[in-house]
Amino acid sequence: MAITSDHSVRFALDGHVVSAEITDPTLTLLEYLRLQAGRTGTKEGCAEGDCGACTVVLGELNSEGGIDYRAVNSCIRFLATIDGRELVTVESLQHGTTLHPVQQAMVDCFGSQCGFCTPGFVMSLFALYQQPSGQPSEHQTGARAELGRTEVVNALSGNLCRCTGYRPIIDAGCRIASYPEPARWNRDDARSADRVARLAGLQRDTALKLPGFHAPRSSAEFAAAYQAAPDSLILAGGTDIGLWVTKHLRELPPMLYIGEVAELQQIAVSDQGIEIGAAVSLTAAWAAIVELIPQLDELANRFASPPVRNSGTLCGNLANGSPIGDAMPALIALGADIELRCGDSIRRLPLERFYLGYQKKDLQPGEFLTSVRIPKPAPGLIFESYKLSKRIDQDISAVCAAFAITLAGDTVSSARIAFGGMAATPARAPATEASLIGQPFTAATITAAAAKLADDYTPLSDMRASSGYRLQTAMNLLKRFHLQHSGSDTVLRTDEAAL
Ligand SMILES: Cc1cc2nc3c(=O)[nH]c(=O)nc-3n(C[C@H](O)[C@H](O)[C@H](O)COP(=O)(O)OP(=O)(O)OC[C@H]3O[C@@H](n4cnc5c(N)ncnc54)[C@H](O)[C@@H]3O)c2cc1C
Ligand code: FES
Ligand code: FES
Repeated sequence: MAITSDHSVRFALDGHVVSAEITDPTLTLLEYLRLQAGRTGTKEGCAEGDCGACTVVLGELNSEGGIDYRAVNSCIRFLATIDGRELVTVESLQHGTTLHPVQQAMVDCFGSQCGFCTPGFVMSLFALYQQPSGQPSEHQTGARAELGRTEVVNALSGNLCRCTGYRPIIDAGCRIASYPEPARWNRDDARSADRVARLAGLQRDTALKLPGFHAPRSSAEFAAAYQAAPDSLILAGGTDIGLWVTKHLRELPPMLYIGEVAELQQIAVSDQGIEIGAAVSLTAAWAAIVELIPQLDELANRFASPPVRNSGTLCGNLANGSPIGDAMPALIALGADIELRCGDSIRRLPLERFYLGYQKKDLQPGEFLTSVRIPKPAPGLIFESYKLSKRIDQDISAVCAAFAITLAGDTVSSARIAFGGMAATPARAPATEASLIGQPFTAATITAAAAKLADDYTPLSDMRASSGYRLQTAMNLLKRFHLQHSGSDTVLRTDEAAL
């Protein structure tokens, strides 16, 4: 029977329903585990989503009546947001004296030294094991089956180890499918009728309301609550907001949690493109975007890490509006627009017009983003997005670029160019675009257009990059875009020194 309303958070853990009273809505899942539940296997390394030592797995009911298991960073996830979910910690995996395959593989491949990072790696591998592709297939069972190295590296891109070195850990990840399925936490067990029924019984009919935390269940209820209390803070995945608490020690106003609003968890696909609701995770959003625009695969994989993408939302990224946010340049170049709601009023806005200045957005009191709509690329659109950062994995951009042009014959007939990291907001490059349109798509045109980037942007110097680096690499990225799509190795020879 579904729960109506009370003042505690309920979740499933190791076959039981746990009920936790919350007095502080910013209590993190990690603090709860270590300080209240005595589950100290989950570690704190950075407390900002970067190292993965705090990784746990959350199970959520999916639309097929099963459970999806995903890794998340417990250090920046507020306990109140796991209501109605299943929690799996490193302590959950061992069955008697028998280790789970992901643990046994770490032992067999010498994947641990001091062990501090190990529970986090184990939980990221466990989440991978629970994906359909992470399971031994009928043909693989009992054989020396191996998971793909790329899949394992991607799954572990949010985990840092300072002493073992990654090769043995990656080896362990590649081998997890070769062990016999465990008695507990095999695929059938993880999605058993018991577990599904337990989770179904935890779902609420009405909003969870705690002191300082309110989780409406419909868009209308959310809109009314926000309009009535516009000084509330909208909480989505908390992958930005979590750090305001753990790193900036900020006191937060009462929070309105968007993650339980059913209408906003939808992705609508049509002939016109895709519309992604405000409560859709970055994982699901990027999967849908890459389906439509495969060129964004690398950007999607390099956006944070799987645990951050499993909690964070695409609309949270757009709403936060950081000048170095990665989703905006591509979506602006593609001509995306957003839907905003205030009470019962709804309006649409091109994404590029949402950003008015540093941390200033076109949002009225009580107004919030409900979705972003990304149009299907027109036939013949030439599009790329590039991210430059100091590390490949789990790093914020110094510069992020997106180029979308169409050609009529050899002539550029339209151009939309957007950059992050070059100005106080993500922004288009009007002078550069104008210098391309009507010109032949040649190296000479690109060189002239690249020079115009200095008219469009006056980038800052900060710890990520100097102003000069940003401008030079922005020019080089435009040249790279041309090289990639002109098929001219003459251009390659002429310009390769600049790249
Ligand atoms: C370790 C780590 C790595 C990261 N790497 C990257 C990266 O590579 N690239 C990148 O771009 N970002 C990165 N981020 C930043 C972050 O993950 C993203 O900005 C994320 O998309 C934020 O979404 P969220 O749902 O977690 O937002 P939240 O933290 O919940 O909210 C962020 C802000 O948006 C507001 N907000 C949220 N939803 C709405 C809405 N519907 N309407 C109005 N306002 C709203 C909130 O009030 C808040 O001000 C990283 C973060 C971490 C911790
Ligand atoms: S403690 Fe480092 S990611 Fe959570
Ligand atoms: S084993 Fe020591 S940090 Fe990874």
